[in-house]
Amino acid sequence: MGRKLLSLTFSLIFLLFLISPSSSTTSFRKLLGTEKYAIVGITNCTSTTEINVDDGYCIHHMVAKLDHFDNSCIPFYSVLYAPIEPESPHAPKILQVFLNDGKLAYRLVDIEFPQSKNVAHSRIPSEKLAYFTTNLTIHPLISDIIGVVYENVSGFIYVIYKAFEDGQMKPKADVYQMEQDFSSPNSLLNTHLYQFYIDNYFVDTVCFTITKMNIHMIMVKIFSIPYGSLTYYLKRGIRGKLEHDIESPRREKVQVTNGLVYSILNEGNNITSFLRPLHRDVGGIICAMNSTRTEDYFFVLTGWEFCKLRDGHDANLTGCNMEFQEAAPELAAPAVLR
Ligand SMILES: *[C@@H]1O[C@H](CO)[C@@H](O)[C@H](O)[C@H]1NC(C)=O
Ligand SMILES: *[C@@H]1O[C@H](CO)[C@@H](O)[C@H](O)[C@H]1NC(C)=O
Ligand SMILES: *[C@@H]1O[C@H](CO)[C@@H](O)[C@H](O)[C@H]1NC(C)=O
Ligand SMILES: *[C@@H]1O[C@H](CO)[C@@H](O)[C@H](O)[C@H]1NC(C)=O
Ligand SMILES: *[C@@H]1O[C@H](CO)[C@@H](O)[C@H](O)[C@H]1NC(C)=O
Ligand SMILES: *[C@@H]1O[C@H](CO)[C@@H](O)[C@H](O)[C@H]1NC(C)=O
Repeated sequence: MGRKLLSLTFSLIFLLFLISPSSSTTSFRKLLGTEKYAIVGITNCTSTTEINVDDGYCIHHMVAKLDHFDNSCIPFYSVLYAPIEPESPHAPKILQVFLNDGKLAYRLVDIEFPQSKNVAHSRIPSEKLAYFTTNLTIHPLISDIIGVVYENVSGFIYVIYKAFEDGQMKPKADVYQMEQDFSSPNSLLNTHLYQFYIDNYFVDTVCFTITKMNIHMIMVKIFSIPYGSLTYYLKRGIRGKLEHDIESPRREKVQVTNGLVYSILNEGNNITSFLRPLHRDVGGIICAMNSTRTEDYFFVLTGWEFCKLRDGHDANLTGCNMEFQEAAPELAAPAVLR
């Protein structure tokens, strides 16, 4: 069986490693191992999709570019929402989780595919929203949310947060099943399945990180957890398999997408973005950003998810698989982690 791993996308458990500046010219297609991809970046309230990055140039999302749109959106978490059935004809979307009127809400954001240029920009439609259909009386504040994880194999979304009971902080997770709602493209049928307390380890990690940040050198670690085991691992405080462990300057906004690790290094005025493979040692991409972002999410789509974005209703699974087999046989991308 192939490797099916889920890497936790909370901003805490991992933070990472050093990339030699001399390798900053590694081209993105070499890094990824294919020329067919769509890079989806969420910055503040804007979403961009980029294809065909020129060799030697930075990815649009990784450089300082002022947003085309206003930045008044409220804080949110973003995950990639891919349908559960691997052969589903429905294109992936961005699923955002946030708080509205004191209630946990979400929105599904369409990913726009660039038509005439290499980059498509769109404003995230803040007016669009739906609620988690739960009658739980407690909704975590957005600042108490530790992480949001969507598992495409089960269709479960985990909202992990700090809860306060009797003056004590007890971290919890709420698990919802998200199903496609064919009567309404902008919402999902969601069911609250269960709630459980998570081990303090996952919260302590945050504190540990913050303390260590001050001295500017931490051990940055990325762990992966097998699909289907997240509840157990969170409950029991099991970290998972260590995927990467290198000492380096602190990083923020660390994310793993399609076998690549994205991160930001913030040194006051000098803000730098980094991208490197999780496993292969082929250098990385470093870009000057010089601008803070209220939100920063980074996703790379290839294979069938890419074909659906590009071809819309004409997407053909057989054709798409053939296209990707031919594309880069000697540079097969590493195990896909998300
Ligand atoms: C994002 O929003 C912040 C706060 O509103 C603003 O300072 C920053 O310039 C924005 N970033 C970009 C890239 O527009
Ligand atoms: C879930 O996403 C991963 C990564 O894109 C993909 O390899 C896998 O096929 C997906 N699983 C299902 C059941 O679609
Ligand atoms: C949630 O509360 C609303 C309004 O109080 C009620 O109509 C609905 O049936 C409740 N749903 C569930 C699943 O209990
Ligand atoms: C900014 O950060 C990059 C990456 O760490 C470093 O190479 C560069 O020298 C820094 N520039 C300044 C002006 O500090
Ligand atoms: C980023 O900031 C550094 C140091 O302040 C400056 O030297 C560099 O020109 C800036 N780069 C951009 C793209 O603004
Ligand atoms: C899908 O692509 C395959 C291979 O190119 C082709 O044989 C098949 O006819 C296509 N199916 C449709 C419905 O277009």
